[in-house]
Amino acid sequence: MQILVIHGPNLNLLGSREASHYGEETLDAINEALHLQAEAQGVTLVIHQSNSEGELIDRIQAASGTMEGILINPAAYTHTSVGIRDALLAVGLPTVEVHLSNPHAREEFRQRSLVADVVAGRVEGFRSRSYLLGLDGLLGILREVGS
Ligand code: DQA
Repeated sequence: MQILVIHGPNLNLLGSREASHYGEETLDAINEALHLQAEAQGVTLVIHQSNSEGELIDRIQAASGTMEGILINPAAYTHTSVGIRDALLAVGLPTVEVHLSNPHAREEFRQRSLVADVVAGRVEGFRSRSYLLGLDGLLGILREVGS
């Protein structure tokens, strides 16, 4: 089973970026923990980070027919991108949205997610653990679908 993991803009700066919101772990460390968790579950992860909306959309489109599900932190595009929302709807794969911080405890513009109502589930506010909890939830959904 292959899962696509998408990290949106500025998440390449984790570790040095606003640690009070996002914690001190680097993206490499998060990806390593995700790979370990996936390996233990017999699942392969294909992980992409991009600062470009179009590239994220291309990756989501390419998941159709090759991936079983998507774990996504759209980062700033969460709040702005109709394109990412439409790409998720177009591929129709079970998707879990994750955030390191709790956007609902932050500025008002972060309190709207354009993908929230098209994903299967959401995890936010647990720093890097949001990704691990999100992957666990996604695998649970995929197992239910498969059984
Ligand atoms: C974020 C929250 C977004 O509002 C912000 O733009 C990010 C990261 C998070 O993981 O907490 O870049 O998605």
